[in-house]
Amino acid sequence: MSTIINVNQNILEMEYAVRGPIPQRAAKLKQAGKNVIFCNIGNPQALGQPPLTYHRQVISLIEEPAKIERERELKEIFEESPASNLRYEDFISEDILNLSEEILTKTGMGVGAYTESKGYFFVREAIANFIDKRDRFAPKSNLQSNPESIFLTDGASDGAKRVLDLLIAKKTDGVMIPIPQYPLYSASIRMFGGVQVNYYPDEEKDWALNRATLEDAYSKATQKGVNIKAIVVINPGNPTGSILDARSVHEVIKFAQAHNIAIIADEVYQENLYGGEFVSFAKALGEIKTVPLFSLHSISKGFFGECGHRGGYLEVRNPPQISGEDLDFIDLLLKQASVSLCANSVGQIMTYLMVSPPKKEGKVQEKFIEEKEKVLANLYEKAIMVRKSFEEMDGLEAFGKTGAMYLFPRLNKLPTGTDDFDYCMALLEETGLCVVNGSGFGLKNHLRIAFLPSKKDLEDVLPRWIRFHNNYVNGTR
Ligand SMILES: Cc1ncc(COP(=O)(O)O)c(C=O)c1O
Repeated sequence: MSTIINVNQNILEMEYAVRGPIPQRAAKLKQAGKNVIFCNIGNPQALGQPPLTYHRQVISLIEEPAKIERERELKEIFEESPASNLRYEDFISEDILNLSEEILTKTGMGVGAYTESKGYFFVREAIANFIDKRDRFAPKSNLQSNPESIFLTDGASDGAKRVLDLLIAKKTDGVMIPIPQYPLYSASIRMFGGVQVNYYPDEEKDWALNRATLEDAYSKATQKGVNIKAIVVINPGNPTGSILDARSVHEVIKFAQAHNIAIIADEVYQENLYGGEFVSFAKALGEIKTVPLFSLHSISKGFFGECGHRGGYLEVRNPPQISGEDLDFIDLLLKQASVSLCANSVGQIMTYLMVSPPKKEGKVQEKFIEEKEKVLANLYEKAIMVRKSFEEMDGLEAFGKTGAMYLFPRLNKLPTGTDDFDYCMALLEETGLCVVNGSGFGLKNHLRIAFLPSKKDLEDVLPRWIRFHNNYVNGTR
């Protein structure tokens, strides 16, 4: 008989819908040979999105530096006697070879060694430059990003967990999260033993945030003895796919300032805008020094989709002082990071490439722009396809601009006695389309669809979904 043990109840009780019962059933159906279209998770390359050549060529050379010289030698042999089935473009460009050498030199001994606990300094410097450029922070101004306030992380999830782990000091410490939310936040708050405090973006106003809703959530929680430490904002949103307007971003900052709490800005979808405008919290915060800000970014989303490589960063602005200690939050983040030694080195280089796209005009830049625009255009077209199909579904409504990789429509007309989970499970069983029920993100009578599968798969499944939907909600199945 196996040993029986007690484990951390917080982990036992936490939930993670994106990989919950519906996706698990989908995996079983697939194993049994059924055609399943996975629209349950923002994992672009799992659904056929190609990686960018720029990123992958550099990474391959960095992993095996001997290839750099070999490539040059092969190119020379080719130039002397061109083989008929090869073209000059088949060789890795000199610019990429040079860049890879440069990166290798900056790493010191290559990617097989531990890095500084905060991450390679040259990568943090490149991230700081990227932020300054993105937010138009003037050179030498006090708004400029500081590489010493940046931590490389194994994906944004890792960054979020580090901050929450440090912030949640007592059972009564609370963190405000939007509902619907990405379950990383509810799960992590649970894992670290804090209190989840829900606030509700205004769905019918394109998921905007207003001070009154935030104040309402705050006062209800504080009346129950919760000590709110931070508010999480996901922009562009997951699961909603919405893009926050500047007003909403400023409302959150004013709210955080009034209550002396930190902001955790999850901005992993900042490149997935499809026409909307992204306002970073760092930019909106400007000169305000009284609001601690933790901003997260990642290589998993945007047009990179390098989820498996686990890379990202955390930037800290206005780090709070630690009570009773001569330390600030960055000192403690460093201490905490040191325990895991460092974020994975290849993910760090991927992050470097994310923030340093090819600058020099030429073939490498042209190809990069072409591939980037193709991925983004393809995502946008698929979003439109899905949104259009909603028009034919009885009682289904989607609000907000389209951002991120998701749509989160409301199911206004579910048959009595059924809920969004039943709907999504039946949809999976009947059509092979795997989406996640809104209740998995905290909001009932909704569903989240990730518009990542190929256009062909969507063209195939959307008419079946429309038929299923209208029959299901009208009880004519
Ligand atoms: C809002 C949000 N934050 C964080 C993550 C996780 O990102 P990463 O792969 O960088 O850990 C996701 C993944 O889907 C996400 O949607």
